[in-house]
Amino acid sequence: MSKLIITGKRELSGEIITSSSKNSSLPIIAASILGNGTTRIINVPNISDVKIMIELLRGIGAKVDYYKNTLSINPESINCTELVQEISSKIRASFQFLGPFLAKYGKAKIYYPGGCNIGTRPIELHLKGLSSLGAYIIKENGFVEVMANKLIGTKIYLDFPSVGATENILMASVLAEGETTIDNAAEEPEITDLANFLNKMGARIYGAGTDSIKITGVNKLTACSYEPIPDRIEAGTYMVAAAITRSKIKIKNVHEDCLKPVSAKLKEMGVNIESGDDAIIVDGKNELKCTDIKTMPFPGFPTDMQAQIMALLSTVKGTSIITETVFENRFNHINEFNKMGTNISVSGKSAIIQGVDKIRGCKVCASDLRAGAALVLMGLCAEGDTEIADMDHIERGYDSLHLKLENIGAQIFKV
Ligand code: UD1
Repeated sequence: MSKLIITGKRELSGEIITSSSKNSSLPIIAASILGNGTTRIINVPNISDVKIMIELLRGIGAKVDYYKNTLSINPESINCTELVQEISSKIRASFQFLGPFLAKYGKAKIYYPGGCNIGTRPIELHLKGLSSLGAYIIKENGFVEVMANKLIGTKIYLDFPSVGATENILMASVLAEGETTIDNAAEEPEITDLANFLNKMGARIYGAGTDSIKITGVNKLTACSYEPIPDRIEAGTYMVAAAITRSKIKIKNVHEDCLKPVSAKLKEMGVNIESGDDAIIVDGKNELKCTDIKTMPFPGFPTDMQAQIMALLSTVKGTSIITETVFENRFNHINEFNKMGTNISVSGKSAIIQGVDKIRGCKVCASDLRAGAALVLMGLCAEGDTEIADMDHIERGYDSLHLKLENIGAQIFKV
């Protein structure tokens, strides 16, 4: 297991470049099996979740090449619709093969997915959608099997705008007969990105990015070249890095619209954010104010930024409250934060944060991907050294985080 060691209190300056979105890349990789020919996905982040998706594709016989962040996938040699169990259970995104398998081959067997330990992560909305399209579903201990001779478009209402369920239904319905409507669909930018990718392959999807998506089924999809959008959570993490170290940095390769929910809160706290072409300058040198935050599906404040903003609020005078409404168990980082001197308590779905004057470096453990990123942020502003064990969690979703931060002045290294 690798760990990170950070010596805090270094001012950051210069430019940092965001990679392409992890949460776009993963479903796009799964969707690439829908196209005939070789699909090229450009600027794919070099993260362990992507490497696992590649292993899964190779495990079913696809030809995959990953060179200099370009991923080429040819599905023509796929000879199996069952993912290797030990590999697929490592990541949640393995479940995103369900829709594409069903659409293209009429069947799939997938083991229950893994991923971050942030509460029970049910899949009934994915299955409800696929079943409405005509799939027969067998749920056994540890795996799900789906099959259908033919998928037929229909109207689907999601009880909650689940990102994963919207994606799976979208990927299944593009080859279904007739029209499908997904109401109360997730509106996350990664859904729009997936839809743009599928449309580039020849799909007919309308309304992605709104809560009602319409899909007219087509007979076939053709391989294409595509670059996923920049990672808004990675960019948000760097915005907080600037604010928590009271520094000024430039973040390149960002889509500002996708960052609005995070920018708005940071601005409210007193962080100065200037826009440029494809880049923003974040200045955290002003005195910052406490605030309250509630995580919500997009365009609300992203749950994937909750731990990072909590790190920042811990360093700001006054009392802030963060309410987590998306996941039921996403406060695992608080114990580790409090070891570093924060004063945070939990009451139901809310964390009550009393700002403190000093954060102290110590040995801590990353319990999941974003918790790990938040501990890095704490380390950047702490007095002394912070040692973060289980860095593997961070490498699931951040491409070269320590190198990128080192480049803008952080003292951080991996051992
Ligand atoms: C995706 C993101 C993850 C992000 C989350 C919410 C990827 C690979 N991961 O995860 O980083 O934190 O969106 O923005 O894109 N739910 C159900 N039934 C279901 C499915 C989900 O009740 O069938 C619930 C979940 O328990 C959770 C909520 O819906 O409480 C949100 O989950 P969902 O939007 O599905 O998240 P993921 O797609 O797993």
